[in-house]
Amino acid sequence: MNNFVYDIPVKVYFGENQLGHLGEELKKFGTRVLLTYGGGSIKRIGLYDRVMNELKSAGLEVFELSGIEPNPRIDSVREGARMCKEHKIDVLLAVGGGSTIDATKFMAAGACVDHDPWDFLSEKWAPITEALPIVSILTLSATGSEMDSGGVISNMETNDKIGRLAPALLPKVSFLDPTLTYSVSPYQTACGAADMISHILEVYFNMDQDLYMLDCFMEGLLKTIIKYAPIAIKEPENYEARANLMWASSWAINGFINGGKRQAWSCHPIEHELSAIYDITHGLGLAILTPRWMEYCLDEQTVSKYVQFAINVFGVDSTMPPMDIAREGINRLSDFLFNTLGLQRTLTEVGITDEHFAHMARKACAGSTLLGFKSLQQTDIEAIYRLCL
Ligand code: NZQ
Ligand code: ZN
Repeated sequence: MNNFVYDIPVKVYFGENQLGHLGEELKKFGTRVLLTYGGGSIKRIGLYDRVMNELKSAGLEVFELSGIEPNPRIDSVREGARMCKEHKIDVLLAVGGGSTIDATKFMAAGACVDHDPWDFLSEKWAPITEALPIVSILTLSATGSEMDSGGVISNMETNDKIGRLAPALLPKVSFLDPTLTYSVSPYQTACGAADMISHILEVYFNMDQDLYMLDCFMEGLLKTIIKYAPIAIKEPENYEARANLMWASSWAINGFINGGKRQAWSCHPIEHELSAIYDITHGLGLAILTPRWMEYCLDEQTVSKYVQFAINVFGVDSTMPPMDIAREGINRLSDFLFNTLGLQRTLTEVGITDEHFAHMARKACAGSTLLGFKSLQQTDIEAIYRLCL
């Protein structure tokens, strides 16, 4: 294993009825709170009223920014940063899924600088050294934004969707109450599961070093998602299923499984180009891409990793020839994503053609090479997109 620093300073309140701690946690940072949320699901599930009651009884002054979009836009971030400055906000409270939490992270950073928050993400790559404190209440298990230092923002004018990591963006406190995800639709539950699986596979498929201990952990996380996502879809109010998925979403991306791995991710940059142009759900894009990316990267050098995956995660017959085991692992993953979870299996089904593939592939590899599990150049990425048609 390579050397690494493990530092995840996010305080997590996990489980039901933990929101009673919300006021006391927010008050540690001040009294003026910017509450951020999306298109209204938090009102439909009664969470908005619960949060407001907690904030009022703690004597906090609340300002609100709603309407944060799935694939959150830079315009929402700009507005949030502006409000933080105007109202001298002390702490931001993000209530929602990854989109709300991601946008809130960049609002918190934007509040501390004079320049446009897009400069954090554009080619200017302005440093993110400071952000106002962020507290999150998670309502959808998927991205892990509740426990990681990253966020992804879209700019629809330039058709860009760009991610950025910075320790300052880590939430200080996150509330993970599985019952808040009971109302998540079967489709979003499936997309969330696909996203988590991808976060793990981006790390797991790695030929560089022996990560046995972490591989076992990752296989456990994958089996957890494979076991519980179908249960959550059939029985939305199954607490154990929602709880296992929620905790798996955080651990899939909070840095623990990396263990010094330096390899870059592959499917995510390729997917972000799909979301940037077609505004498709991130998890759906990943579900369509991942088995095709695996197929494309399978060869004599990489086959051993696929064999490990197929046997340990899906229990594939280990007596078959390695290439057959590897292919069966990919088939089982496809079967899970498209048949068990019911996600659409091709880009064609979601109305995407090859029109922008060359442009998207060039952007995904930043005009040179995507240094992931296998090094991919523009032509490779275009070929992967084509396998998805
Ligand atoms: O907007 P509202 O009304 O809240 O509805 C949302 C939205 O329509 C709804 N929803 C959320 N919680 C719900 C609910 N509906 C019913 N009941 C609930 N309890 O679900 C829809 C999708 O929400 P969204 O926040 O967009 O989903 P997700 O959590 O999957 O976030 C996706 C975004 O996160 C980025 C993605 O690229 C995408 O922009 N990612 C962030 C990452 C990170 N921070 O590290 C990593 C990921 O790889 C990913 O890129
Ligand atoms: Zn993701």
